[in-house]
Amino acid sequence: MYGNDRFRGEVTGKLCEIANSITVRSSNVKPQGFSGNLHIVSYKGFETERKMETRLAKALARAGISSRRKAEELIKQGLVTVNGRVITEPGTVIDPDSDVVRVSGNPIYRERSVYVLLNKPAGYISSVKDERGRKTVLDLLPEVKERLFPVGRLDYDTRGLLLLTNDGEFANLMSHPRYHIAKVYHARCRGKVAQDAIKKLQQGILLDGVPTLPARVKVLKRSKQDTLLEIELHEGRKRQIKRMLLEVGHPVIELMRVRFGPLDLKGVPEGEYRLLTRDEVETMKNLALGMVGSRYRPGGKSST
Ligand code: URA
Repeated sequence: MYGNDRFRGEVTGKLCEIANSITVRSSNVKPQGFSGNLHIVSYKGFETERKMETRLAKALARAGISSRRKAEELIKQGLVTVNGRVITEPGTVIDPDSDVVRVSGNPIYRERSVYVLLNKPAGYISSVKDERGRKTVLDLLPEVKERLFPVGRLDYDTRGLLLLTNDGEFANLMSHPRYHIAKVYHARCRGKVAQDAIKKLQQGILLDGVPTLPARVKVLKRSKQDTLLEIELHEGRKRQIKRMLLEVGHPVIELMRVRFGPLDLKGVPEGEYRLLTRDEVETMKNLALGMVGSRYRPGGKSST
């Protein structure tokens, strides 16, 4: 277990640029000069991928033993040992890489973190099961054995880019409006959308009495019957695009999410998926934490 060898301090060199609230851990701590192997443990209070310690209940949940709440009960019941000692405090911090955790005598194994980019077709529900027996997005990922859940939702009839993961912290970073990750949609809607409606969509539409955040809206194609719009949102309220367009009198006919932060659907045909690379995961986290500009595109220039 760690704890005593955690410290806060100024970091020199490249890390200095982002060092204000960095917590580092080193197996070879040398406070003068920090020349050991530095691992970033947290940034602005958020754990980074390299952080090893985790709360016991979370470690059980990540190992697929149970939900976090159920894990807390198992711990309180005295069924969980860490390095042979019974632990009854769910918040106890452990290192899953070095501490041996057993439940009723059986060792647990940590699930590897998996990050999936799926090109969702219409006709699938973005959840892990459906009471009405409809197909779920997990039906499109039969080879992935980890317990994935979708990062936010796309409606049953919405197509496009959906992320799935078993990393709850990542999911929270990606979907919390505080982090403002841009999501871009192509919406085909009924009628010819006039400039004043575009302005309203850009400035904010009252939904349930709360205005939507400013959005980027661009007309891609316009005819008498319908209009194809590109809309960039920085939040994810329920059925947001459909409700916004309905409010300005243009019901959605077809909706597709084409981009999530710097990620797009290139090379992923409808109904198929790919795993995110380690770099992409890092970039997405850094983007959410404000460590790279919000218009960052891999291989391109960051414009903010
Ligand atoms: N907005 C909607 O209305 N539906 C979606 O699925 C996503 C965004």
